[in-house]
Order: sequence, then structure tokens, then C-alpha cells
Amino acid sequence: MNIAVLGSGGREAALAWKLRVDEPEAIVFVLPGNPGIPGSIPVDCADPIAVARFCLGNGVGLVVVGPEVPLAAGIVDALRSRGLNTFGPTADAARLESSKSFAKAFMEKYGVATARSVTSIGVAGARSALAGFPGRVVVKYDGLAAGKGVFVCGSTAEAESALDSIEKSYGPDSTVVLEETLVGTEVSVIGLTDGTCFKPLPAAQDHKRLLDGDLGPNTGGMGAVAPAAWLTTAVYARIQAEIIEPTLAGIRDSGFDYRGFLYFGLMLTREGPKLLEYNARLGDPETQVILPALGSSLLEAIDAALAGRLAEAELVPDGSCRAALVFACSGYPESPSPRPEPISGLEALDGSTLFFPAGVATGNSRFIADLPLVAAKLPLAAARGRAFSICVAGKDPGSALASLYAEAGKIDFAGMQFRRDIGARWLSSPPELEGWDLE
Ligand code: AMP
Ligand code: GLY
Repeated sequence: MNIAVLGSGGREAALAWKLRVDEPEAIVFVLPGNPGIPGSIPVDCADPIAVARFCLGNGVGLVVVGPEVPLAAGIVDALRSRGLNTFGPTADAARLESSKSFAKAFMEKYGVATARSVTSIGVAGARSALAGFPGRVVVKYDGLAAGKGVFVCGSTAEAESALDSIEKSYGPDSTVVLEETLVGTEVSVIGLTDGTCFKPLPAAQDHKRLLDGDLGPNTGGMGAVAPAAWLTTAVYARIQAEIIEPTLAGIRDSGFDYRGFLYFGLMLTREGPKLLEYNARLGDPETQVILPALGSSLLEAIDAALAGRLAEAELVPDGSCRAALVFACSGYPESPSPRPEPISGLEALDGSTLFFPAGVATGNSRFIADLPLVAAKLPLAAARGRAFSICVAGKDPGSALASLYAEAGKIDFAGMQFRRDIGARWLSSPPELEGWDLE
């Protein structure tokens, strides 16, 4: 049985790598992938007819969807209706990510712990509603915005300019969510669900801002670490009771066919866990650490979830700590890179370092069929946005981070950007959980 992964970034490179480890006999295609990922085929993953034609013609028995845009557009519904076994939520269920107002209404209806919020249809109404959130407030555009639709504002004046920018980008009729600002430690609990049961992968932390010290603009994510030593069984039990179980009850009650990855973006506040957002997919770059940190088969868990028997599957961490670092092109995230820049030093990476290509090009822009993902030796160029990530393992977070930066020091390309403090805050300031009343 062959497998198709849909998408083109570092997340999909890591998914394809893990599925190949799990099932060395299978051909893992990546549609469209990128010039650095083995098995990349130039088929547009937003076009269900083209994807179905390719999969049906190439013995694909499982399709795994990476990004949110095709999920929201109904790729799972479309592929299943053509007989393809597809892992991901249907469009209906993917609204948990694609509409923030839908997600907030769902959280409130089913008693999922979250920040107080108000939804306004139209920017003018949101301006009036700001009075209910004096001082700090979070302003969120309702739809998918690749991380650019959320504004964490320190004052009403900042919130007003966030609303101006939403109005400019998406129009005056945009739906906007205003939300109370939560303070605490962010963590991503990502796992699989079959709609009845949720099984977590190792918990991870992303680093969304471009610059060290959590400064600069928001990005898709600049690095990740996993797992969190302080996410003990007792802490997880509260997340499960206050967030995961009510979500599963809501999924069942809503009649959603949700067999896919489910991502809980959490803030661990002093009072308890609160849900910031759902994503209906794996995170990028979290996937680049949580799949390498998984000791058991992802493929078996996906098969079990698709059959509605995820409760029987086991997801076992491999016991290592993992750290991943994203290398972005000059100008990211605001402007495109002027030209592809050759990457040097990949051949010097340690054999155990994982290399996950994303916005890369080859000299001749061909799709390469069998480039090894570990320490790729091909001349690749950093072409767009987040160009690639590397992932290393350590016996503890400190040693993983030391190796990560030793490896990063070998790599260079013109205009390269990467953060030098991945994991630092997570290690130095664990969450304050005094109010949690843990056993
Ligand atoms: P979201 O896409 O809703 O997860 O928001 C993106 C980022 O904005 C989150 O990862 C947080 O860093 C921040 N954020 C979102 N909502 C809140 C909130 N209510 N309080 C504090 N920070 C938030
Ligand atoms: N890294 C955050 C996300 O994938 O949404």
C-alpha cells in the first residue's frame, strides 16, 4: 500500500519521514511536496480531482492531509467520496480551526475552559465592544490568516489599530473575536482523534515570534521543543478533564466525522489550563519534534483512528528530548526573498540530525525523487519563507539545545534568519501552577 501526504512544508517533510520509518515497504508520495522532499510530485493539493486521479492511479491506500487550507475547503470529504481512505477532519469539523467565532461558540456550548470573549459581525461593532475589554485585549480575525489574524494588544489604542488593519485586509464586514488576555505558559497538545477518543503525541512548545526574547512579528513558528518535563500526569489530567473531554463530547454531539489530527493550543494560567485555539491538523514546526520523539508507529495509530478504534492504539514516546530550529529567508515574514540563496554546510551535519526542507529550490528546480532526508547532500537553495528546519535529539533538553546550536553553526546562506533562544524560556521558567490544586 502506498501513502500520499498532502502539503509542501517542513511538517509534511517530517510526516513523510515518519511514515517511511513506520512502513519502509510503502512509497510515500508528497503532493506537491518541495524539491528537497523525496517522493514529491507536482500535484496541487488544493485540487481534489487532481489528487484523486494521482492517488487512484498510483496504488495509494492512505492519504494524510497536512495543511489547514485544503481541510477547510473540504478535501477530506471530496477524497472520501471518491473512495480514498483519507486521514483528516471533514470541512464541517475543520471549522474548529477555520472560524474562530465558531470555535469560541463551540467551547462555550460544551464547557471547554477558555478566555472570556465577544464575537462581533463587522468591525464597527467590534470597536464599540472594546469598551468591555479595558486595557489589554486580544483581537482575532475570524478566518484563516496564516498566523497574521491575531493581535495581542497592550492598550485600547493598539486594539483600535488592530481593527483598522483587519478592516483594511478583510473588509468592514469581517467577523472579529475580542478576547481577554491570558497570562501563563503556552503549550501545544497535539494528537490523533477518531471522534471518540484522543491520544496525545509528546507535548511541544512553538516559538511564534521572529526574534529572540519573543520580539518581532508573529510567524508560522521559528522552532520547537518537546516533550515538556513539567507536563506531568496530574497536569495532563486537568487538561483532559477541562478541555479534551468536553471537546470530544462536543464533537460527538455535533455529529462531526473527525478522524484526524487535533491540536489544542493551550495557555497554562495560574488558575488552570485554558484553550486559546484548536487547529484541525498538526503544527509546523511542532511536528518536526513530536514525530521524531514518538517511539511507536504513527501509521498504526492513523489506521486505528480511521477504523474508529483509536482507544486500542498506543502512542509511546521514545524517551528523548527533541529540539527543532527553523531557518528563514531574508525578509520573512513580511516580504518575499529576492532570490534563492545556496545553502552551505548541510553535508557537515551529524548523521543523526534530521533535515526537513520547506521553502527550498534546487539549481534546476527539478523534483528530486530520492534525496536522503538525513543530512541531505544535494545543493539546495533557500528560496521562500521558512526554508527548512533541523531537528536533533538529546537525553535532556539542555543537551538537545546545545547540539541544536552546534549543528546550526555549520549552516549558512545569505540573509539567513534563525532564533538563538529556542527552548530557553521554557527551560528557565516552568509554568506557575500554584492555583491548580494538584494531588
Ligand atoms: P491563536 O491563533 O488564537 O492561537 O493565537 C495566536 C497566538 O496569539 C497564540 O499562540 C498566543 O501566543 C496569542 N494569544 C491568542 N489568544 C490569546 C489570549 N486570549 N491571551 C493571550 N495570548 C493569546
Ligand atoms: N506552529 C503553529 C501552528 O502550526 O499553527
